[in-house]
Amino acid sequence: MCMGEQPRAREQVFEKLFAIDPTWRDLFVLDFDGGVRRAMFQTSCDIIQNYVDNDPMAEARIEAGQLIHDGYGVTPEVFQLFFKLISEAVQIHHRVHHADTWNRTHTAAWDAMLAHFKTIK
Ligand code: HEM
Repeated sequence: MCMGEQPRAREQVFEKLFAIDPTWRDLFVLDFDGGVRRAMFQTSCDIIQNYVDNDPMAEARIEAGQLIHDGYGVTPEVFQLFFKLISEAVQIHHRVHHADTWNRTHTAAWDAMLAHFKTIK
């Protein structure tokens, strides 16, 4: 549902992320083949799927992810931003490939998820 295998969406997310703060690109200098970035995108999509399935793993994975990323110098706010950028990429993908059937219910559902994720410490 979240386009884990959509390279275009993944590229969009990372381009937007690095446009917000270009120094974040430097964090990935050792990710020569893009493997870490692919895994990050895929794992984030899995977590979103967990949330949709009401699986408590969503919260546990975010909690753990925030802790681990703190060690990379990535704050919880920046970590959370990744999900916001994915929601934007999903919306663009939906508009382009699904006959613009995106509506306010979709926006509300994604916003509720993002708000919920922000409560996770
Ligand atoms: C602005 C910088 C970054 C953001 C916004 C970000 C965000 C995320 C998010 C949302 C996830 C998915 C949840 C999770 O598994 O924790 C993730 C996973 C991950 N991130 Fe990052 N991250 C950043 C930088 C980094 C850096 C610098 C590294 C390593 C050098 C890294 C390594 C990983 C790894 C290994 C995973 C798990 C992938 C898997 O499950 O296989 N991240 N990241």
